[in-house]
Amino acid sequence: MRDSAEFKRVAAAAALDFIHPGMRLGLGTGSTAEAFLELLAGRVAKGLDVVGAATSERTAGKARALGIKIAELDDLAPLDVTIDGADETDDALNLIKGGGGALLREKIVAASSRKMVVIADHSKLVKRLGAYALPVEIVAFGARSTLDRLERTLAEFGYKDVTVTPRSGPEGLFRTDSGNLIFDCALKVIHDAPSLATALSQVPGVVDHGLFIGLASHLIIAGPAGTRILEGKAS
Ligand code: A5P
Repeated sequence: MRDSAEFKRVAAAAALDFIHPGMRLGLGTGSTAEAFLELLAGRVAKGLDVVGAATSERTAGKARALGIKIAELDDLAPLDVTIDGADETDDALNLIKGGGGALLREKIVAASSRKMVVIADHSKLVKRLGAYALPVEIVAFGARSTLDRLERTLAEFGYKDVTVTPRSGPEGLFRTDSGNLIFDCALKVIHDAPSLATALSQVPGVVDHGLFIGLASHLIIAGPAGTRILEGKAS
């Protein structure tokens, strides 16, 4: 019986077909993205010339340790393709991301890429987003007031009595690479992800949220039934 780690690796391996010499890559964050980095490093060791912009300090460190060249996003953009994981995806390639806390940089990098290829094991493909708590990144200044506005916005969308949990880290509250906080919103089912994404982006104090709408061009999903590639509107 193969486990999810193996399927993540299968999806990561399939993403190598999107990589060509001379490309400028966006490098995602999380265990699936790290499996991709390891496979990419094997190609680099054999002479593949690529350079990447990382979506987190963790990914930058891992890529450098594996011998993959890293540069600043602004020196590389527009990127040819970003390879990243997801916490959930529907079949329209709307995503929930941010389980690893890198959602802001992940979204900036994806938006700076001609293509975004999402790699995932089959457990990530869902009919409707929302079982995975939606991460919302907010600035620490006035966090309690922002939380009130966030809850009011969720209530306007029918999400009443939602559990919103501040994410904790090794030393108290979790801090993102940009020094912000994350609140995880247990919505259970998201009915209209594009509208909710727009509304959350308008809440003062919210820096960004984990809904990625219309950004993914391809989804590589690997599971016991094999590997499938779905194309999104952004393809
Ligand atoms: C990081 O912030 C996330 O968006 C990850 O891409 C997501 O959590 C997927 O992680 P895994 O590949 O570890 O499942």
